[in-house]
Amino acid sequence: MDIKNNILETIGKTPLIKLNHVCYEVPAMVLAKVESFNPGNSIKDRVGLKMIEDAEKAGLLKPGGTVIECTSGNTGLGIALACVIKGYKCIFTISDKQSKEKRDILKALGAEVVICPNDVEPEDPKSYYSVAEQLSKEIPNSFWCNQYDNLSNSQAHYESTGPEIWAQTHGKITHLIAPTGTGGTICGTARFLKEQNPDIKVWGIDSYGSVFKKYKETGIFDKNEIYPYLLEGVGEDILPENVNFDLIDHFEKVTDKDAAIMARRLAKEEGLFQGYSTGAAVQGLIQMKDQLTEDDIVVVIMHDHGSRYTGKIYNDDWMRDRGFLEYEMKVKDIINKKANEIFISVDIHQNLKDILKVMKESDISQLPVLKNGLMVGSVIESKVLEHILSNPSRDVYVGEIMDQPFVEVSMDLPVKELNKYISKNMTAVTALDNSGKRHIITQYDIIQAL
Ligand SMILES: Cc1ncc(COP(=O)(O)O)c(C=O)c1O
Repeated sequence: MDIKNNILETIGKTPLIKLNHVCYEVPAMVLAKVESFNPGNSIKDRVGLKMIEDAEKAGLLKPGGTVIECTSGNTGLGIALACVIKGYKCIFTISDKQSKEKRDILKALGAEVVICPNDVEPEDPKSYYSVAEQLSKEIPNSFWCNQYDNLSNSQAHYESTGPEIWAQTHGKITHLIAPTGTGGTICGTARFLKEQNPDIKVWGIDSYGSVFKKYKETGIFDKNEIYPYLLEGVGEDILPENVNFDLIDHFEKVTDKDAAIMARRLAKEEGLFQGYSTGAAVQGLIQMKDQLTEDDIVVVIMHDHGSRYTGKIYNDDWMRDRGFLEYEMKVKDIINKKANEIFISVDIHQNLKDILKVMKESDISQLPVLKNGLMVGSVIESKVLEHILSNPSRDVYVGEIMDQPFVEVSMDLPVKELNKYISKNMTAVTALDNSGKRHIITQYDIIQAL
C-alpha cells in the first residue's frame, strides 16, 4: 500500500511551477517552489520538524516536554504539527501584527498562544522574543526553538529545499530568490545550491523598515532603518544567526503596496493563491529583471498559502483603507453625482410629437418607454430624426418607432464595465436604487462623471 504513517511524512517534495503571466517582462524562465503544498501550508513545516528532531537528539527535549517559540505563525504551525504527532505541549508568542487567521490555526492544533505588542524593541521584556525566552526559563522541561538563532532552521533547507530544487531543475538553476526573515530558508537553500554551483546568484527580498539591505551593503546596523511595516515574515529588526550575509548576493526591498498587489495578481493571473511575502518575492524579482537574460532559470520560493491573508491583502476594504487599491467608480457613484434628477420617460401610447416635446424641454437625447409602469422599449434622438426625415407625419405612436428597452444594471456595477451595455444604438442603461427608484445613466452622464 502507498501510505504515509503520519502527517509529518508529507512534508517537503513540493512542486516547482512555471510562472506564465505575471513575469512577462522578465526575460528568464521563472519557476515557483510552491511551499503551500506542505501539510501546514507553509515552508516552515520543514523547519518545525527539524528543530524538534535535533533537540530530541541533543537531549534538550524529553518526553512530556513543552516546546516554546516566538513565531509569525507559520513556524508555529510546523512545530504544532510535530508536537501533535510526538506528544509535546506547545506555547507560541506571536506579535499583534500577525493575522488573526494565523493565531486561530495555532489554537486549532492545540497550541497555547500569547499575543505580544509589535511596536517594541526586541530587548523589551514585552517583545515576543523576550516573552518566549522568559517562558522557557520558567517552565520546567521546556525547549525554546528560537528559529532566529537555531541553526537547525537553515539546516532543514540545506537538507531538503536545496536538494529538491537542484534535482527539479536538473542543476540548471541560475538564480534563487526568497523573502528573508530568520534567513533560514534562503541561507540553507543557498548553501546547498552554491556548493553544487558557486555561480548561482542568491537574492534576498527585504522590506522597507528592515535592517538587512543596509547591513549587507555597508556593514552598518542602522536603527534608523527600523520602522513599522505591514509585510509578514519579510525583513527584521535584528540580525538572526541564520542569516549568513556571505551567501546572499543582493537584497532587494519591496513596498507593502507592491507586494500586496503582486500577491493578488498571482492569484488572478496564475491561479497561485499565496501569501503576502510571495507577492514581495515576485515583485522583487521583477524589479531585478534587467539583471537577467533568457538563458537564466530563476527559482522563487513561495512561503505560504493565501488563505492566511483573506482578512488582509485579499480583502478589498483592507487594501482600500491603506491606499493600496484605487477606488473603482460604480454606477451608484454616477447616480449620486446626478443628485435627485427625475426619471423622465414616455408612455407607449404617446406619439412622436410628445417625444419631441419632452426631448426639447428636458434637453435629453434618449427616453425609456413605459407600458403600465414597466420598461418596454427606448427611443433615441438619432432614430427619431431618421423617422422625421423619411416620414413627415408626427402622428406615429411611440410603440411603432421604439427599440429594445435600455439594459437594467446593478448599482454596484463598475463604470468601466458599462461598455458591455452601451453602444451607438443603445445610448443609456437604467438602474434601480434600494428605495425602488429608477435612474437612467447616459453616455453624457458617464463622460461627466469621469
Ligand atoms: C510568510 C513568510 N514568508 C517569509 C518568511 C521568511 O523565511 P525565513 O524565516 O526562512 O527567512 C517567513 C518566516 O517566518 C514567513 O512566515
